[in-house]
Amino acid sequence: VVWNLEKAANWAKDILQKADVATFGLDADVLLAHAINRPRRFVFTYPDYQIPLENLEVFQKLIFRRAKREPIHYILNNREFWSLEFFVNSNVLIPRPETEHLIDHFLELARSQKNEQRSLEVLDIGVGSGNISIAVLKELPLVKVTAIDISEDALEVAKRNAKNHDVLNRIQFCLGDLFPKGDLFPDQFDFVLSNPPYIASSEFDSLEPEITCFEPKVALISGKTGLEVYERLISETLLRLKFGGYLILEIGDGQLEQIKNLIDQSGEFAEVFTVFDYAGKPRTISARRKING
Ligand SMILES: C[S@@+](CC[C@H](N)C(=O)[O-])C[C@H]1O[C@@H](n2cnc3c(N)ncnc32)[C@H](O)[C@@H]1O
Repeated sequence: VVWNLEKAANWAKDILQKADVATFGLDADVLLAHAINRPRRFVFTYPDYQIPLENLEVFQKLIFRRAKREPIHYILNNREFWSLEFFVNSNVLIPRPETEHLIDHFLELARSQKNEQRSLEVLDIGVGSGNISIAVLKELPLVKVTAIDISEDALEVAKRNAKNHDVLNRIQFCLGDLFPKGDLFPDQFDFVLSNPPYIASSEFDSLEPEITCFEPKVALISGKTGLEVYERLISETLLRLKFGGYLILEIGDGQLEQIKNLIDQSGEFAEVFTVFDYAGKPRTISARRKING
Protein backbone atom coordinates (compact mmCIF):
# COMPACT_ATOMS: atom_id res chain seq x y z
CA VAL A 1 0.00 0.00 0.00
CA VAL A 2 1.12 3.50 -0.79
CA TRP A 3 0.33 6.27 1.68
CA ASN A 4 0.42 9.93 0.95
CA LEU A 5 1.31 12.55 3.57
CA GLU A 6 -2.27 13.44 4.35
CA LYS A 7 -3.23 9.84 5.05
CA ALA A 8 -0.15 9.23 7.17
CA ALA A 9 -0.72 12.41 9.18
CA ASN A 10 -4.35 11.55 9.85
CA TRP A 11 -3.48 7.98 10.85
CA ALA A 12 -0.87 9.26 13.28
CA LYS A 13 -3.04 12.00 14.80
CA ASP A 14 -5.72 9.45 15.53
CA ILE A 15 -3.29 7.09 17.28
CA LEU A 16 -1.67 9.86 19.33
CA GLN A 17 -4.98 11.37 20.31
CA LYS A 18 -6.18 7.99 21.57
CA ALA A 19 -2.96 7.73 23.60
CA ASP A 20 -3.85 11.06 25.28
CA VAL A 21 -0.94 12.95 23.79
CA ALA A 22 -1.98 16.57 24.27
CA THR A 23 0.06 17.84 21.31
CA PHE A 24 -1.04 15.02 18.99
CA GLY A 25 -1.43 17.18 15.85
CA LEU A 26 1.87 18.98 16.15
CA ASP A 27 3.77 15.82 17.10
CA ALA A 28 2.34 13.85 14.18
CA ASP A 29 3.46 16.53 11.71
CA VAL A 30 6.90 16.95 13.29
CA LEU A 31 7.58 13.21 13.28
CA LEU A 32 6.28 12.87 9.73
CA ALA A 33 8.58 15.61 8.49
CA HIS A 34 11.45 13.97 10.38
CA ALA A 35 10.74 10.52 8.87
CA ILE A 36 10.88 11.88 5.31
CA ASN A 37 13.80 14.24 6.02
CA ARG A 38 11.90 17.32 4.95
CA PRO A 39 10.95 20.58 6.68
CA ARG A 40 7.55 20.62 8.34
CA ARG A 41 6.01 22.96 5.77
CA PHE A 42 6.52 20.24 3.15
CA VAL A 43 3.92 18.13 4.95
CA PHE A 44 1.28 20.85 4.56
CA THR A 45 2.28 21.92 1.07
CA TYR A 46 2.29 18.49 -0.58
CA PRO A 47 -0.46 16.40 1.02
CA ASP A 48 -0.47 14.07 -2.02
CA TYR A 49 3.25 13.29 -1.85
CA GLN A 50 3.61 9.52 -1.76
CA ILE A 51 5.81 8.31 1.06
CA PRO A 52 8.52 5.80 0.11
CA LEU A 53 7.85 2.52 1.91
CA GLU A 54 11.00 2.59 4.05
CA ASN A 55 10.23 6.10 5.29
CA LEU A 56 6.69 5.05 6.07
CA GLU A 57 7.96 2.18 8.22
CA VAL A 58 10.29 4.53 10.06
CA PHE A 59 7.42 6.96 10.62
CA GLN A 60 5.12 4.28 12.00
CA LYS A 61 7.77 3.18 14.50
CA LEU A 62 8.25 6.78 15.67
CA ILE A 63 4.51 7.19 16.16
CA PHE A 64 4.28 3.95 18.17
CA ARG A 65 7.07 5.24 20.44
CA ARG A 66 5.29 8.55 20.92
CA ALA A 67 2.02 6.72 21.61
CA LYS A 68 3.81 5.03 24.53
CA ARG A 69 4.37 8.61 25.74
CA GLU A 70 8.09 8.75 25.06
CA PRO A 71 8.93 12.49 24.88
CA ILE A 72 9.28 13.74 21.33
CA HIS A 73 12.69 15.25 22.15
CA TYR A 74 14.10 11.82 23.02
CA ILE A 75 12.65 10.41 19.81
CA LEU A 76 14.28 13.21 17.79
CA ASN A 77 17.42 13.28 20.00
CA ASN A 78 17.18 17.03 19.95
CA ARG A 79 15.99 19.97 22.04
CA GLU A 80 16.41 23.69 21.50
CA PHE A 81 17.47 25.83 24.49
CA TRP A 82 18.60 29.46 24.40
CA SER A 83 18.30 29.21 20.60
CA LEU A 84 20.95 26.49 20.55
CA GLU A 85 20.42 22.86 19.52
CA PHE A 86 21.20 20.19 22.10
CA PHE A 87 21.57 16.45 21.62
CA VAL A 88 19.42 14.71 24.25
CA ASN A 89 18.72 11.11 25.20
CA SER A 90 17.10 9.42 28.17
CA ASN A 91 20.26 9.92 30.28
CA VAL A 92 19.58 13.62 30.60
CA LEU A 93 16.70 15.85 31.59
CA ILE A 94 15.16 17.56 28.57
CA PRO A 95 16.05 21.26 28.96
CA ARG A 96 13.01 23.35 29.92
CA PRO A 97 12.31 26.84 28.61
CA GLU A 98 11.86 28.13 32.21
CA THR A 99 15.55 27.51 32.84
CA GLU A 100 16.32 30.36 30.43
CA HIS A 101 15.40 32.72 33.29
CA LEU A 102 18.45 31.46 35.17
CA ILE A 103 20.65 32.30 32.16
CA ASP A 104 19.09 35.76 31.82
CA HIS A 105 19.67 36.54 35.47
CA PHE A 106 23.21 35.19 35.44
CA LEU A 107 24.07 37.38 32.43
CA GLU A 108 22.66 40.44 34.13
CA LEU A 109 24.78 39.84 37.25
CA ALA A 110 27.90 38.84 35.32
CA ARG A 111 27.71 41.89 33.05
CA SER A 112 27.23 44.23 35.98
CA GLN A 113 30.49 43.15 37.59
CA LYS A 114 32.97 46.01 37.46
CA ASN A 115 35.94 44.06 36.27
CA GLU A 116 34.16 42.59 33.28
CA GLN A 117 37.41 42.01 31.43
CA ARG A 118 38.53 39.38 33.89
CA SER A 119 37.59 35.82 33.11
CA LEU A 120 34.81 34.68 35.44
CA GLU A 121 34.93 31.19 36.89
CA VAL A 122 31.55 29.46 36.91
CA LEU A 123 30.55 26.19 38.54
CA ASP A 124 27.50 24.37 37.15
CA ILE A 125 26.17 21.71 39.51
CA GLY A 126 24.10 19.02 37.79
CA VAL A 127 25.11 19.86 34.24
CA GLY A 128 22.77 17.32 32.57
CA SER A 129 22.75 17.93 28.80
CA GLY A 130 25.08 20.91 29.27
CA ASN A 131 22.42 23.48 28.38
CA ILE A 132 23.21 25.98 31.16
CA SER A 133 27.00 25.76 30.84
CA ILE A 134 27.00 25.97 27.07
CA ALA A 135 24.54 28.89 26.90
CA VAL A 136 26.79 30.75 29.38
CA LEU A 137 29.96 29.97 27.42
CA LYS A 138 28.37 31.05 24.15
CA GLU A 139 27.28 34.38 25.63
CA LEU A 140 30.46 35.34 27.47
CA PRO A 141 33.70 34.56 25.66
CA LEU A 142 35.91 35.08 28.72
CA VAL A 143 34.03 32.78 31.06
CA LYS A 144 35.34 29.37 32.09
CA VAL A 145 33.05 26.66 33.42
CA THR A 146 33.51 23.64 35.64
CA ALA A 147 30.57 21.28 35.22
CA ILE A 148 29.68 18.54 37.68
CA ASP A 149 27.19 15.72 37.52
CA ILE A 150 26.61 12.59 39.55
CA SER A 151 25.70 10.71 36.38
CA GLU A 152 28.52 9.58 34.13
CA ASP A 153 26.05 9.06 31.28
CA ALA A 154 24.84 12.66 31.59
CA LEU A 155 28.44 13.90 31.45
CA GLU A 156 28.91 12.02 28.17
CA VAL A 157 25.95 13.89 26.69
CA ALA A 158 27.19 17.24 28.02
CA LYS A 159 30.64 16.61 26.49
CA ARG A 160 29.10 15.79 23.16
CA ASN A 161 27.12 19.04 23.22
CA ALA A 162 30.16 21.08 24.30
CA LYS A 163 32.05 19.64 21.34
CA ASN A 164 29.17 20.37 18.94
CA HIS A 165 29.12 23.98 20.14
CA ASP A 166 32.88 24.33 20.04
CA VAL A 167 33.40 25.27 23.70
CA LEU A 168 35.37 22.23 24.91
CA ASN A 169 38.45 24.38 25.53
CA ARG A 170 36.63 26.47 28.18
CA ILE A 171 34.81 23.75 30.11
CA GLN A 172 36.00 20.98 32.36
CA PHE A 173 33.81 18.10 33.42
CA CYS A 174 33.85 16.38 36.74
CA LEU A 175 31.97 13.36 38.06
CA GLY A 176 30.83 14.09 41.58
CA ASP A 177 28.20 14.46 44.25
CA LEU A 178 27.47 18.23 44.35
CA PHE A 179 30.81 19.66 45.52
CA PRO A 180 33.49 17.01 45.18
CA LYS A 181 35.81 16.93 48.18
CA GLY A 182 39.02 16.53 46.23
CA ASP A 183 40.93 19.07 44.19
CA LEU A 184 39.04 21.20 41.74
CA PHE A 185 40.81 23.79 39.69
CA PRO A 186 40.12 26.58 40.39
CA ASP A 187 38.98 25.83 43.91
CA GLN A 188 36.89 29.01 44.28
CA PHE A 189 34.26 30.31 41.90
CA ASP A 190 32.64 33.65 41.06
CA PHE A 191 29.32 31.98 40.32
CA VAL A 192 27.71 28.71 41.36
CA LEU A 193 24.74 27.85 39.15
CA SER A 194 22.38 24.95 39.57
CA ASN A 195 19.08 23.58 38.40
CA PRO A 196 19.04 20.68 40.86
CA PRO A 197 16.52 17.86 41.29
CA TYR A 198 13.67 19.37 43.32
CA ILE A 199 10.65 17.09 43.16
CA ALA A 200 9.37 15.43 46.34
CA SER A 201 9.13 11.66 46.00
CA SER A 202 5.45 11.80 46.98
CA GLU A 203 4.63 14.18 44.10
CA PHE A 204 6.44 12.16 41.49
CA ASP A 205 3.62 9.80 40.52
CA SER A 206 1.25 12.66 39.75
CA LEU A 207 3.47 13.90 36.90
CA GLU A 208 2.92 13.10 33.22
CA PRO A 209 4.14 9.70 31.96
CA GLU A 210 6.57 11.48 29.62
CA ILE A 211 8.42 12.51 32.77
CA THR A 212 7.89 9.59 35.16
CA CYS A 213 8.50 6.79 32.66
CA PHE A 214 11.31 8.31 30.60
CA GLU A 215 13.32 11.09 32.23
CA PRO A 216 16.13 10.15 34.66
CA LYS A 217 14.86 9.99 38.24
CA VAL A 218 18.21 11.25 39.57
CA ALA A 219 17.58 14.45 37.62
CA LEU A 220 14.13 14.95 39.12
CA ILE A 221 13.67 13.53 42.60
CA SER A 222 15.39 15.14 45.53
CA GLY A 223 13.97 13.15 48.45
CA LYS A 224 10.92 13.19 50.70
CA THR A 225 10.47 16.97 50.82
CA GLY A 226 11.99 18.05 47.50
CA LEU A 227 14.32 20.40 49.40
CA GLU A 228 17.06 17.94 50.32
CA VAL A 229 19.42 18.85 47.48
CA TYR A 230 18.93 22.59 48.13
CA GLU A 231 19.80 22.12 51.80
CA ARG A 232 23.11 20.55 50.87
CA LEU A 233 23.74 22.92 47.98
CA ILE A 234 23.24 26.06 50.06
CA SER A 235 25.51 24.94 52.90
CA GLU A 236 28.19 23.17 50.82
CA THR A 237 28.44 25.96 48.25
CA LEU A 238 30.36 27.95 50.86
CA LEU A 239 33.29 25.59 50.29
CA ARG A 240 33.59 26.76 46.71
CA LEU A 241 32.04 30.22 46.35
CA LYS A 242 34.27 33.30 46.55
CA PHE A 243 33.34 36.09 48.97
CA GLY A 244 31.13 38.42 46.94
CA GLY A 245 30.32 35.60 44.52
CA TYR A 246 26.79 34.59 43.55
CA LEU A 247 24.77 31.43 43.99
CA ILE A 248 21.96 31.19 41.42
CA LEU A 249 19.38 28.41 41.66
CA GLU A 250 16.32 27.36 39.76
CA ILE A 251 13.52 26.58 42.20
CA GLY A 252 10.34 24.51 42.09
CA ASP A 253 6.77 25.58 42.53
CA GLY A 254 5.93 26.54 46.11
CA GLN A 255 9.54 26.33 47.35
CA LEU A 256 10.45 30.02 47.46
CA GLU A 257 9.88 30.72 51.15
CA GLN A 258 11.61 27.58 52.34
CA ILE A 259 14.61 28.19 50.12
CA LYS A 260 14.84 31.82 51.24
CA ASN A 261 14.84 30.54 54.82
CA LEU A 262 17.67 28.14 54.09
CA ILE A 263 19.66 30.99 52.57
CA ASP A 264 18.93 33.31 55.53
CA GLN A 265 19.72 30.63 58.10
CA SER A 266 23.21 30.13 56.71
CA GLY A 267 23.95 33.75 57.68
CA GLU A 268 26.49 33.94 54.85
CA PHE A 269 24.44 35.58 52.11
CA ALA A 270 23.06 39.04 51.31
CA GLU A 271 21.29 40.56 48.29
CA VAL A 272 18.77 37.76 47.83
CA PHE A 273 16.82 38.26 44.62
CA THR A 274 13.89 36.36 43.09
CA VAL A 275 13.13 36.13 39.37
CA PHE A 276 9.56 35.33 38.30
CA ASP A 277 8.69 33.40 35.15
CA TYR A 278 6.17 34.48 32.50
CA ALA A 279 3.42 32.73 34.45
CA GLY A 280 4.27 34.91 37.48
CA LYS A 281 5.79 32.06 39.50
CA PRO A 282 9.10 32.39 41.33
CA ARG A 283 11.55 30.43 39.19
CA THR A 284 15.09 31.53 39.95
CA ILE A 285 16.71 32.82 43.12
CA SER A 286 20.12 34.40 43.55
CA ALA A 287 22.09 35.25 46.66
CA ARG A 288 25.43 37.00 47.05
CA ARG A 289 28.00 35.71 49.49
CA LYS A 290 28.87 38.39 52.02
CA ILE A 291 32.20 40.01 51.34
CA ASN A 292 33.50 39.71 54.90
CA GLY A 293 32.31 36.18 55.54
C1 LIG B 1 17.03 19.01 36.97
S1 LIG B 1 18.43 18.26 36.16
C2 LIG B 1 19.14 19.69 35.38
C3 LIG B 1 19.92 19.40 34.13
C4 LIG B 1 20.36 20.66 33.37
N1 LIG B 1 21.29 21.46 34.14
C5 LIG B 1 19.15 21.50 33.00
O1 LIG B 1 19.01 22.61 33.52
O2 LIG B 1 18.32 21.07 32.18
C6 LIG B 1 19.50 17.91 37.54
C7 LIG B 1 20.86 17.31 37.20
O3 LIG B 1 21.59 17.14 38.44
C8 LIG B 1 22.24 15.89 38.46
N2 LIG B 1 22.37 15.51 39.88
C9 LIG B 1 21.44 14.99 40.70
N3 LIG B 1 21.93 14.81 41.95
C10 LIG B 1 23.22 15.25 41.90
C11 LIG B 1 24.27 15.32 42.87
N4 LIG B 1 24.08 14.92 44.12
N5 LIG B 1 25.48 15.81 42.49
C12 LIG B 1 25.68 16.22 41.21
N6 LIG B 1 24.71 16.18 40.26
C13 LIG B 1 23.51 15.70 40.59
C14 LIG B 1 21.35 14.99 37.64
O4 LIG B 1 22.08 13.88 37.13
C15 LIG B 1 20.85 15.94 36.56
O5 LIG B 1 21.71 15.94 35.44
